[in-house]
Amino acid sequence: MTLIDPPAAADARAEIPIGGNLDEADAITLAKQLDSRLRDLPTLDERIAVIAEFIPGRIAFSSSLGIEDQAITHAIATQEARIDVFTLDTGRHFPETLETLFETEGRYGIKIRVVFPDATEVENLVAEDGIMGFRYSVEARKACCEVRKVRPLNRALAGASAWITGLRREQSQGRAEVPFASYDASQKLIKLNPIADWSLRTLEDYVSANKVPVNPLHAKGFPSIGCQPCTRAIRPGEDIRAGRWWWENENAKECGLHARNDKGSRA
Ligand code: ADX
Ligand code: SF4
Repeated sequence: MTLIDPPAAADARAEIPIGGNLDEADAITLAKQLDSRLRDLPTLDERIAVIAEFIPGRIAFSSSLGIEDQAITHAIATQEARIDVFTLDTGRHFPETLETLFETEGRYGIKIRVVFPDATEVENLVAEDGIMGFRYSVEARKACCEVRKVRPLNRALAGASAWITGLRREQSQGRAEVPFASYDASQKLIKLNPIADWSLRTLEDYVSANKVPVNPLHAKGFPSIGCQPCTRAIRPGEDIRAGRWWWENENAKECGLHARNDKGSRA
């Protein structure tokens, strides 16, 4: 099957302005093409190579330094793909997460851009809600995620044509339909999830075969790692994300990084 027809892709490249502000119709078309193209590529390296080849302008990868993102960073760094890697430092990470950042930069000889929240916004939030305000209500928790994650993410993605994440369908019911590529209408860019179809087993095999550095907390019952006060280890049989905001009900448990506003995928 012919997937992305190279001349069509070249046309798409010519038509889409470089550096963000994608024309929505063109971006939706390109996202559709990439969604089926990525689905048919067997390896992560090939998927990353195709993304770097066919997306015009800046491509940004948001790494939480969790195992999914470490696999993607490995693929990007080892083939020196033209993709900017950044992480959002909320100020509430586990020390192990920051050690993983340090170790990853050393292992691959790369710089990961660390994006911080606005200091005044954090001060105002803490003055109003307290240092553990996120424990009191879902609204307060979302306000904290908004200041410490969502706004910094929006800044980090400004001007980018595409955004790569480590979302996997297996992670939760809410992520079961995650496409490989879609047009994200809220961020106005193409959102790419190159390991959307990977199982945890595939991921662990990749990481171990390539000796990718991983956060030591994964081996201590933390399959999903966010901020320290909002993440606990899971018990045998619990869902992968059961340790995130465990005091909230299932439906509320997203931090707002991944708003469901996608077009141009088969989902
Ligand atoms: S979250 O929305 O619940 O926090 P999760 O931890 O599952 O998300 O991570 C899903 C994807 O969101 C990651 O693969 C990554 O692309 C992005 N992400 C989450 N947290 C961060 C972070 N601190 N910095 C950068 N990207 C992040
Ligand atoms: Fe704040 Fe917790 Fe959200 Fe981190 S996960 S930004 S500490 S509410």
